[in-house]
Amino acid sequence: MENITTALTYHDRTKHRLQRYAASLGYMDWDTQPDPFRTYEGSKKIALAHTNLTPPYHLLFDQGALPAAPLCLESVSQLLRYSLGLAAWKSVGDSSWALRCNASSGNLQPSECYLLLPPIGGISTQTSLCHYAPKEHALEVLCEYDSPLPNTQIVLLLSSVLWREAWKYGERSWRYCQLDAGHAAAAVRISAATLGWESCLVRFDTGSAAVALGLNDPSRFAPMENESVDLALLISPEPIGDAPFHLPFPPSPPSYPANILSPSHHEWPILPIIDEATQGMYPQTAPLSLSRTLPDPSKSAGEIILKRRSAQMMDGSGISEMHFRRILDASLFLPETADVHFILFVHRVEGLKKGLYCYVRATEELENIRTATDPDFLWKDFGKGLYLLKEGEYQGAAQKVSCNQEIAREGAFSFGMLCRFASVLEERGAIGYKNLYHQCGMVGQLLYLEATSLGLSATGIGCFLDDEVHTLLGLKNQYYQSLYHFTVGRAIVDTRLTTLPPY
Ligand SMILES: Cc1cc2nc3c(=O)[nH]c(=O)nc-3n(C[C@H](O)[C@H](O)[C@H](O)COP(=O)(O)O)c2cc1C
Repeated sequence: MENITTALTYHDRTKHRLQRYAASLGYMDWDTQPDPFRTYEGSKKIALAHTNLTPPYHLLFDQGALPAAPLCLESVSQLLRYSLGLAAWKSVGDSSWALRCNASSGNLQPSECYLLLPPIGGISTQTSLCHYAPKEHALEVLCEYDSPLPNTQIVLLLSSVLWREAWKYGERSWRYCQLDAGHAAAAVRISAATLGWESCLVRFDTGSAAVALGLNDPSRFAPMENESVDLALLISPEPIGDAPFHLPFPPSPPSYPANILSPSHHEWPILPIIDEATQGMYPQTAPLSLSRTLPDPSKSAGEIILKRRSAQMMDGSGISEMHFRRILDASLFLPETADVHFILFVHRVEGLKKGLYCYVRATEELENIRTATDPDFLWKDFGKGLYLLKEGEYQGAAQKVSCNQEIAREGAFSFGMLCRFASVLEERGAIGYKNLYHQCGMVGQLLYLEATSLGLSATGIGCFLDDEVHTLLGLKNQYYQSLYHFTVGRAIVDTRLTTLPPY
């Protein structure tokens, strides 16, 4: 109960409000900018291959259409290359920065990836614990040991360097780390699908995982640069059943020291408190009742994954209802996201009236959302979970609630991800709060890719005025909260930037 109170207090305290944004430095302290790339000094490095033979994107959603690739060094290379690998380098003047396949708030890239791999030729003759180094597209082998991990399964764990986000975003940064972890998880699962592999979230104890991976060992990390375990994925070329699964951790944690990311740090005492409160048994959630339909034939998955970029400006043009529907539908691909619903500001979708809509992604939640929101809403049924709440012009409102960002106004539509909230925390404990952000991030990554496949663009919006959104909906309690915002439209590309290949 105490942890739930901590989560609720953190959530309230880190809301952006019109009069006062959540606490942060308010400026960029460039002298302490964290290194976005983690490495482990002394570990064995294994260069991964650069495969570029990925199947057409639409086939990822056609269950059974793709034969499962064998689990070998090349397939592990492909899995990582098209999920957490670099997508491009950008440069302007003297500065250059890497962009990755997974979107990340402020491109600060807090997520780190660890893999428990069975014996694989070219990596190890034993089970190994490896860290993925995206800059080099290489594995760093941290431990080799004997374990009963079936030789057809990979466990991939994601953790966050909270400091990387805290450096810019202060107290609200924990939320962004969780959203980023969700984006990274979906990126991995989409990449696994390019290999015809299955994946699912694992129920596991995050605290024990942190100890087993040595992620909170003060002798390995500079103060404030340790990592917090977010989630774990089980990935396999073979069907994944329901049998309970134990993570095959090394008998003793690795000892290689991590590189130092910043020369000094600014402390945000609330961050270790919320981090500690949200550790525990990662929850398993009920699956979505709706499922996605097969998209039209499309380009190669790899091309779409590498091309995905966040729009920094939108051109204010409209899109077809078919594309709008396709994007909503794409959000259904990962079934463990049933607690997320959309409150949509529809600005310019041919065939749909401008206005405020609700997309109910788990039909059993309809009556609850209806009861919790403004009793004057129309709830006019447009089919497949879409309801018109109120006709009208919402461009100004969308921009206002999105911290005045024009992308929310100039997209064809923008929306907030409204999550079942207080009841989730009651059912699953404080770690349920963390999982809700993971659900939102996973949905976000799916939508970015679908928009790219349609020749459109999107941008995740972490900066929004929480309670302004809730007031707009007539929400009066904690039963639902909007945890992430998003916009979709046509991007205006910034031609001042030079794009260079990722590797
Ligand atoms: C959780 C999250 C929140 C974000 N919030 C914003 C935002 O409020 N405004 C914005 O312009 N971009 C936002 N972005 C987009 C990031 O800045 C973008 O992903 C990052 O710069 C990397 O660029 P890329 O997506 O093109 O790879 C957000 C992205 C994520 C994943």
